[in-house]
Amino acid sequence: MEVVICKDYDELSQKAAQSVVNVLNAKPNAVLGLATGSSPVGLYKDLVRRHKEAQLDFSQVTTFNLDEYVGLPQTHEQSYHYFMHENLFQYVNIPKANIHIPSGTTSNYRAFCEWYEQRIKDCGGIDVQILGIGSDGHIAFNEPTSSLASRTRLKTLARPTIEDNARFFDSIDDVPIYAITMGVGTILESRKLVLVANGENKADAVAEMIEGPVTSMITASALQMHPRAKVFIDEAAASKLKMRDYYDWVQAKGPGAPQT
Ligand code: GLP
Repeated sequence: MEVVICKDYDELSQKAAQSVVNVLNAKPNAVLGLATGSSPVGLYKDLVRRHKEAQLDFSQVTTFNLDEYVGLPQTHEQSYHYFMHENLFQYVNIPKANIHIPSGTTSNYRAFCEWYEQRIKDCGGIDVQILGIGSDGHIAFNEPTSSLASRTRLKTLARPTIEDNARFFDSIDDVPIYAITMGVGTILESRKLVLVANGENKADAVAEMIEGPVTSMITASALQMHPRAKVFIDEAAASKLKMRDYYDWVQAKGPGAPQT
């Protein structure tokens, strides 16, 4: 895992965006895995800026989102469909037919989940998956004790997740209890992972993810098993890391020996 500690949220957003752009530059028809939540908002802003100012082209891009609340219509302001439209899709030129977000309103979840997994495969797999992390260490909606081999499916949200997300709803009772989410196994099959995290309330989860054991109690720790995982964090989110000096040293010296 490559750990990039940034001075603030702007810097981590820009560096994470650059990591995604590198994939797009090498492969203009890349398949992007997208995340929601407040953490990747800055990354999306930077992609939008590059689209407007530097003609970053999304016309051949395909996207797959990680997850969606069960029961919220696409027009609901807290649905992840709405979030993606508000923060990215309305500003860039991704063809509508190439956008995939799990359905929170399908009448047959089992069939939908199978279709979603197959559709990712049919599109050639995800080239780069953007991720945030929950304060309980989850990725997407893979709550603690989710199988590290899990695939797209329904999950019951954990109480801390419902409490964290209550700030976006009128009352905690309005927060959906179920979600449809890519599994940890699905996420690990992406060719590259880019995780962003900021703020002190993520410091424990970030430390467990990077330096703790691989465990289904912290599903983000599964990133340790991925050959190309990059984590972009700010000072506050990095504050509980034991190997901090090493991560800074690696960034100063370069993450590997010069290639010949
Ligand atoms: C939700 C999402 C996750 C996200 C997490 C953290 O649980 N399903 O994908 O990483 O929230 O959100 P935030 O970035 O707002 O802290």
